[in-house]
Parts: sequence; C-alpha cells; structure tokens
Amino acid sequence: MAIDERFLDELNARCDIVDIVSRYVALKKSGSNYFGLCPFHNEKTASFSVAPDKQIFYCFGCGAGGGPIRFIMNIEGLEFQDAVRFLAKQYNMTVPETEGNPEERHRREHILQALKEAARFFYAQLHSPAGAQALAYFQGRRLSKKTMNNFGLGYAPDSFHALMDAMTAKGFSKEILEKAGLLARSPNGTYYDKFRNRVMFPIIDIRGDVIGFGGRVMDDSKPKYLNSPETQVFNKRRNLFAMNMAKRTKKEYFLLAEGYMDVIALHQAGFDSAVASLGTALTEEQARLLSRYTKTVIVCYDADTAGQTASQRAIDILKKAGLRVKILKIPGAKDPDEFIKTKGPDAFHKLIERSDNDIRYRIESVREKYDFTEDDQRILFLKEAAEIIAALETQVERDVYTTSTAKLAGVTPEAFAQEVRRAQLRQGKKARQQMHREVRAPIQAAQPKDRGIHFDNMKSARAEQGILALLFSDASLMEDMRRQLKPQDFSSPELGKMYGYASALYNTGRNITVAAMEPMLEPAELELLVAAIQTQIPADTRHKAMEDYIRVIQEQNVSANPADPGEDPLLRKAQLQRKSKGFDTGE
Ligand code: CTP
Ligand code: MN
Repeated sequence: MAIDERFLDELNARCDIVDIVSRYVALKKSGSNYFGLCPFHNEKTASFSVAPDKQIFYCFGCGAGGGPIRFIMNIEGLEFQDAVRFLAKQYNMTVPETEGNPEERHRREHILQALKEAARFFYAQLHSPAGAQALAYFQGRRLSKKTMNNFGLGYAPDSFHALMDAMTAKGFSKEILEKAGLLARSPNGTYYDKFRNRVMFPIIDIRGDVIGFGGRVMDDSKPKYLNSPETQVFNKRRNLFAMNMAKRTKKEYFLLAEGYMDVIALHQAGFDSAVASLGTALTEEQARLLSRYTKTVIVCYDADTAGQTASQRAIDILKKAGLRVKILKIPGAKDPDEFIKTKGPDAFHKLIERSDNDIRYRIESVREKYDFTEDDQRILFLKEAAEIIAALETQVERDVYTTSTAKLAGVTPEAFAQEVRRAQLRQGKKARQQMHREVRAPIQAAQPKDRGIHFDNMKSARAEQGILALLFSDASLMEDMRRQLKPQDFSSPELGKMYGYASALYNTGRNITVAAMEPMLEPAELELLVAAIQTQIPADTRHKAMEDYIRVIQEQNVSANPADPGEDPLLRKAQLQRKSKGFDTGE
C-alpha cells in the first residue's frame, strides 16, 4: 500500500529535520549546518551533519544519510510506513489510510489503548502496598529500580476483577478487554481477570505499542508463565521480547535468549541487544525481523538438553534468514540470567568474545555442502575452506585451522597448508588492487562502500554526482540539462535512476528534494544521493559546471561503448550526441 504522495509532501514540508534529529542527538551549529555525534555508529568526533536548507542528515563517518523519514526509520527501526505514521503523529497529521476497514482499524487502536492502560495499572500496582511481595520478588532476582522501570514491569493483583474494575472505570468495555486478551470468560459467561497474582512483563513491539503480557508466578506453582493469547494486535510469531529496546543497540550482534528474565538480566548487565522469542520456538518471521537490524545473532539458550535442541533449530532458521550465527555455551549455570548473577557481566562478555571465533562453525557449514566419498568434492571443500582460513589474521590461527581442516578431509597438513598460502596470496593481491583503486579515486567522490553499489566508471560517476548536486541546489537547471543528458547516459544505473526521478518530479511541478525521492530509493541509494549532494557549487559557476559534467559523462559514455570495428569513432560520437539532443525524460 502506497501512502499518498501529496500527504508525504505535506508531511515533509511540516517536518523540520533539525527539530527531529535534536530529539536524539545533541547538535551544535557550525556555519549553516549542524553537527553532532552520529547515532548510527560509535564515534568520538562529530561527523554527523544536519543541513536545514536541504532537510537532510548525513554522516561523513559511516555514510548514513537521508531525510526526516529515513532518520526515523533508522533510529526507531521502523519500516517506511510506520515511520511516516510516527512522524505524522508528532505533527498532528492523520495518514490517509487505504487499507483495512475503518471499523477494524478503530478496534485495533482501542485494543492498543487498553493494553497501554493495563500496563500502567500493573506498574502502579507493583509500587503500591498490594505489590510489596512482587517488588520483593524482583529485588530478590537482583533487578534494579531502573531496570524494572525500563521494562515497565508490573504486578497483577490477587483478584478476579481488580483490573476489570479499574479499566471499566476508565471507560473500556469488557468486550474490548477480552479482545485485548486481558479478561477471560467462564463457561457461564462471566468475565474475570486473566492475570492474577503474577509479576507482569509487558511485551512491546518495535513501534512502542504494548501488545501483550507475560505473567510469572512468584513461587513454584504451575504454570510458571502465563502469556497473553494471540489477539488482533499480538502475533507471537512476528514479535520478539525486548526488540523495542534492542533495536537501538550499537552492538553489531544480537543476543537471542530463551526467557524474559534472561533478557532482562542481560540488559541490566549492559548487553542491550538481547531479545527472546515469546514462549515459543523461534520462527522464520522473527529471524527476518532480526535480520533487519543485524547481521549476527548469538544464540544463548539454556544449557539443558531442551535448550541445546532448540539452539540447533534456531541456527537453521537464522541461517535461512541470511544471518551469521554464533553459539554461546553457558558453563556452570542453567541460563544467562543465572550465569550473570553468579559470575558477573565480565565473565559473560568473555563468553561472547570466545563465541566470536566461529571459524570452526563456518568450516563445518562448508563441509556439509560436500560429499567426501568423492575426491573432487573433497578438493572443492579444501579450496573453499582455504579461503576462510587464509582470511584469518594471525599465523597461529591459520595453523590451528589448517591442521584440523586437513584432518577433517583426510589430507596431510603440509599439502593443505600450501593451498592456504595460495589463497592468502590471491587475497593479498586483491586487497592491494582494491587499495590502488581507492587511492586513485579522489576523496570528494562519494564511495558507496560495502553498500552494494559499485561504480564502473569513477570519472563519469563523479560527474554524475555533480549533476545531481547541481539539480538539488537549483532545479531550474533541469530544462537545459535534460535536453542534453538522459538517464541512460549515466554510467551508474543508480545515479541515472535518481536523475530520472528528479526529472519526473520536475515534470509534475514537485520540488526536487531528498524527501520527495526518499520513498523510491533503496537505503544504499539514498545514502549515495545524500553524499553526492554534499558538494556545494557556487551559483555563478553552476552553468559552467553543468556543461563540464555533461561533457565528461558523454565522453566516458562513448569510450565505455566502443564503436563496432570499422565504424568511425567520430561518427559514432556524433550519433550519440544527436540521440541525446531534444530528449525529454518526462514519462
Ligand atoms: N515459558 C512460557 N510458559 C511456561 C514456561 C516458559 O511461556 N510455562 C516461556 C517464557 O517466555 C519463559 C521462557 O519460556 O521466559 C523460558 O522458560 P524458563 O527457562 O522456564 O524461564 P526463565 O525465563 O528461565 O524464567 P525464570 O528464570 O523466571 O524461571
Ligand atoms: Mn531462568
């Protein structure tokens, strides 16, 4: 479902990027821009910039960049549409909805409202005289006041109607409370509180809405945990406990634990990327959710056999979602919560560091691909394993894995060591070539490093970025420009696409802004665009710059598409120029 364009324009017009960013980052003005510490990577010097004139943010350090919506997507970990809703709410605007019937949407809002109120009620109970035992329970489990507050922990009183009374007094109907999973109904039709005399863990989704609860008894009675049923707003398969907090982590890995208490203890100990699935085995949806925030998941399930079996399943699901998986074995304790309590956070950190070395695991995974009864398959395995080992940093490490891998495939370590050395040479050569290229490329040109965009022709790409920088400073250049230059002339399909979009915006009388283009671009493309338009071109030289850029792009285009043998190169160039004259990119 696409959100109405006019609405987006209006929202973007009301948004002030400086305002929005300052809620998360301390900004200092310098010249016409603002600077601060980048919230998207760890840094000590401020390379994160906000440009109010273009309504964009850009980090010179990590390359993150975009308009107000992208900023909210990144910092709140929201999908595009949710980020739009998030911003719209702040500016008191209503997103025109085209999906779901109005009644259903209304009920959904109502249920969320009820759950939020219920969380407030449970929280207040925990800190009232009735909650004394519950508070003592949490304290006994070493939770600090701050942790309890961060997680919004609460207490459901020992009553069949305490919550029902409090909520109906606030105007919520019993039907809605039942739909929210807060009330149950007996066979004779009377409603009663589902959660009674339990400590309460609110489950909050990534948008920050309370969608359900887990409730634990304070003794050994059964069932130990009671969870909200699936409701219109609570889908256990799609949510992870504490994801609302973990999504803000700066750690490059996420920790996946089994239980609520494990996650809470981990966060309290500083491991702020810990999450848990909700009383069920990990699902593919949850793995995909994780993959939106990280590349690496460290599984730290319980040490018992059930936990280890579950780990194996989780690994498969996580790998399927394209995640790198590491396993953390917890020695001398039954789960992370107990381990941290007895051995402390530092000891847990050591476990993580040790899990860091997943080479054995990776080699194992490669091994699974090949059938060792076939000689040629064993050779393929050894070649692939050699690449992994060659990339290791120290000779000691390389030796260790060379020996064990050779053994695995039944060849002598000496023979395999040669293969590893060859792989090392190859990789070294590649790295040197790469360095060469980078040194040659001037630094002013944006380098979309590691973001899946590559420039085939650096010289042309630089000019193409210049063209975009010009357009974003002065859209009136468009008329002149597109008579001479078309998107297909661009060596970079990504930059060409942006140029095409700019032209389309121009046609429909919309402004050429990052915000207007944002919905059409992939994150990497958006970052590239924002980086490109950092270049300031003084007004009086713009026309000249434009002519220069166009010439470079066309020259490079000709040399990149050499003429047929026998064809006159000059003729061909003239032809290309003719083709581009009078071109109109409007569609
Ligand atoms: N669980 C559940 N229902 C149960 C038991 C467990 O939903 N009857 C879920 C809960 O999400 C729980 C997780 O499975 O957090 C792991 O269970 P367990 O290891 O028994 O719980 P812990 O988190 O270790 O809880 P505690 O330390 O409080 O005993
Ligand atoms: Mn436990």
